[in-house]
Amino acid sequence: MARSARIGVVGATGAVGTVTLALLRERGYENVRAFASARSAGRMLGDLQVEEATPEALSAGELDVCLFSVGTSASRDLVPHAVSGGAIAVDKSSAYRLQDGVPLVVPEVNGDRVAEHDGIVANPNCCTIPLTMALKPLHDAAGLARVRLSTYQSMSGAGAGRMEELRATPSAEAHLGMDWDFDGEDFEEESKLRGETRKILELPELPISVTCVRVPVLVGHTEAI
Ligand SMILES: NC(=O)c1ccc[n+]([C@@H]2O[C@H](COP(=O)([O-])OP(=O)(O)OC[C@H]3O[C@@H](n4cnc5c(N)ncnc54)[C@H](OP(=O)(O)O)[C@@H]3O)[C@@H](O)[C@H]2O)c1
Repeated sequence: MARSARIGVVGATGAVGTVTLALLRERGYENVRAFASARSAGRMLGDLQVEEATPEALSAGELDVCLFSVGTSASRDLVPHAVSGGAIAVDKSSAYRLQDGVPLVVPEVNGDRVAEHDGIVANPNCCTIPLTMALKPLHDAAGLARVRLSTYQSMSGAGAGRMEELRATPSAEAHLGMDWDFDGEDFEEESKLRGETRKILELPELPISVTCVRVPVLVGHTEAI
């Protein structure tokens, strides 16, 4: 991406957005704007003043790329406005990941798929990304018969608020958790990992069994594959 690109970081005050802004700064992007909800509008993040991510601001045609990390429901509301204003939206939520016609991209695994976008590029779950990076070369070399996966996911994956809660919890009171909605068979995170992995590897029938656990660790997921 050209260093002169006009970039909107939407969700700039969150766990993901904070890191996104730091990486853009480190890599020399200067034409960056920070967006979040009305709750944070006006707040300063370094030398950037947070703007409210309204449909009008996002669709005004003043952004080339929008990096969204606002959660699934806010992404469903806001991403189409950025696209209608001419921006390419890269969305980190699960809103568009399994939608037909939306590329779900891990650059090292299926980076060539990114060109097929129609305005939206989806970014996979934080555990799907390293999982597919480990599986793709194995599949190319030998073929995958089935996958069995256990994850031990840190609190960073649940957002800045949950990280603050963990910081304030005495370690003897911090627990493991099944942190996601249960549909009677799988926790939501487990179905996401299965569906996303099948889409990225283009192996729609691949048998994948998954168990996900939240662990009381601030940052750093583990996967046993
Ligand atoms: N954390 C991870 O490692 C990780 C990894 C992969 C994917 N994701 C996904 O990325 C998304 C964000 O995760 P996060 O961990 O960064 O969450 P977070 O720490 O809770 O931050 C959420 C961000 O979204 C903003 N926001 C919430 N509702 C909004 C709205 N209606 N309009 C505009 N901005 C809104 C918040 O702004 P305010 O400060 O104004 O509330 C905040 O900047 C989620 O979909 C998550 O599943 C996270």
